[in-house]
Amino acid sequence: MDKKNSPVGLRVLAACFLAALFASLQSCEPGSRAEGAVGTNACPYSTAEEWNLFLRVAATQPDWGPTCEDSTCDADTYDRVKTGIQAVLESCRPYFATHPEIAACTDRLRHFVPAWMRQHDDNSYGFRRSNHEYLRSQAGADEPDGMMVPPEALVAAIPSRIKVIEAARRNGYRYLDHDSGIDETRTFVLVPDPLGRFDQWFLLNLQHGQNTVQVNQPLSILVVQKKDAAGNALPKVRLHFRDYTIASSGHGYRVALDETKNGKCYSCHTNGVRQLIPRITPVLEARPVHGEAGYDENGTGPVPADFALHRLQEFNRRLRSYGNPDWRGDIEPGDFGPPLGKNQGCTDCHDGVSRAALNMATSLRQLEKKVYYQLSMPPDNKLQRLLERNEMKNPELNAAEAARLEKALMSQANLIRDFEAARVPTLRSWLLGVTCR
Ligand code: HEC
Ligand code: HEC
Repeated sequence: MDKKNSPVGLRVLAACFLAALFASLQSCEPGSRAEGAVGTNACPYSTAEEWNLFLRVAATQPDWGPTCEDSTCDADTYDRVKTGIQAVLESCRPYFATHPEIAACTDRLRHFVPAWMRQHDDNSYGFRRSNHEYLRSQAGADEPDGMMVPPEALVAAIPSRIKVIEAARRNGYRYLDHDSGIDETRTFVLVPDPLGRFDQWFLLNLQHGQNTVQVNQPLSILVVQKKDAAGNALPKVRLHFRDYTIASSGHGYRVALDETKNGKCYSCHTNGVRQLIPRITPVLEARPVHGEAGYDENGTGPVPADFALHRLQEFNRRLRSYGNPDWRGDIEPGDFGPPLGKNQGCTDCHDGVSRAALNMATSLRQLEKKVYYQLSMPPDNKLQRLLERNEMKNPELNAAEAARLEKALMSQANLIRDFEAARVPTLRSWLLGVTCR
């Protein structure tokens, strides 16, 4: 009996896989196939049994669960996936080319692993192209000129939030100060291209009460491109994400572009642009800008009633109007596994067609915010209103309403717990969905 096909042979092989993936790589017997998996460039597996075992270990052993939006990337898991799984898949490329059945049963893993790695490295936006290529192409000769360039008036106003707002007002750029769906507050500024080819959305990240941004903090920009450089409408909008870094320059400030910046934009921007929290929160301020009714140059005059709320609603209408983006291959949602949240009703809308699917790349923190902290998923206007009144005390909740809110919080806590508990098992079934023969 061929040793590698015997139960003992398989057990040894399994032990070596595990060792290779998670502990000392030296613990496999010298000359064993699994050692070859990481020690040399030769493809170490050749039978269907070996591939099924490899798939099982790969699907179950690494902790695929946590997401890495920015600073939370886990270097150890990343390295183990890289050396224990991706290195094997790389070394077997020629083998897959001549073994279509094995190529087919490993296909999902071979898409998932590199996509997961891009979402978990610590020096990229997580797109298929490297940051260098991605960022350079945004400003390529075939793109609308100036598309990624922040208006000088805004940059000159940094680091003061008040001055940025003043510059926005005087230049006719609509803006809004609002609590953020991530944390703390944001100043959003919209700068549309006069030729209508794109909209630039800027945001300043600020802590509550903070009026000055610091050196090394980001100035994030998301450009929604609607037309090509020649002015022809695109069938779907293209998105251009960029985090500038605020840097000092002589006596003033400038924005710099750091190509090693980490920040997994897609993990939260699953469906492209994001809407702003669609209700009144403690920070909600805006004034009319140059060219609008009610504008006064000093920004000290009375503001029309509900002006900021209307600005918020207008911003959200505009953000909704763009529709689903064309990721142009920078993201292949299918690489991240199946749509999640079926038993929680999420796939009724997040089905990958009408709205982007939630998948293994979708930020856990954002899911928790939307479902639990903001009570906004699945959408329920009555709950939004209760939460708003609870937060703004306007009017305060009566006892029955407070109890209703409490009950909703508990049921939403269960909902997100169930969603999270199902993530990894759903991924595993998907990865193991095709048996090698
Ligand atoms: C942790 C989640 C998260 C990540 C990661 C993230 N964003 Fe966002 N982003 C949001 C949310 C939520 C909003 C909506 C505004 C708000 O609530 O703060 C938003 C809004 C924006 C906006 C305003 C336009 C819009 O879509 O509403 C810009 C600009 C932006 N993000 C840029 C970026 C860039 C650039 C990256 C990657 C380098 C990025 N974001 C990564 C959560 C995230
Ligand atoms: C009735 C349709 C509907 C259902 C059901 C629904 N969503 Fe959403 N979801 C939306 C819409 C519309 C948005 C964009 C508006 C917003 O961000 O509030 C959204 C946005 C989101 C976002 C931000 C990323 C994005 O797609 O813009 C997350 C995360 C999210 N939903 C999670 C969930 C979860 C988790 C569930 C299930 C518990 C769920 N949703 C159920 C319609 C739905």
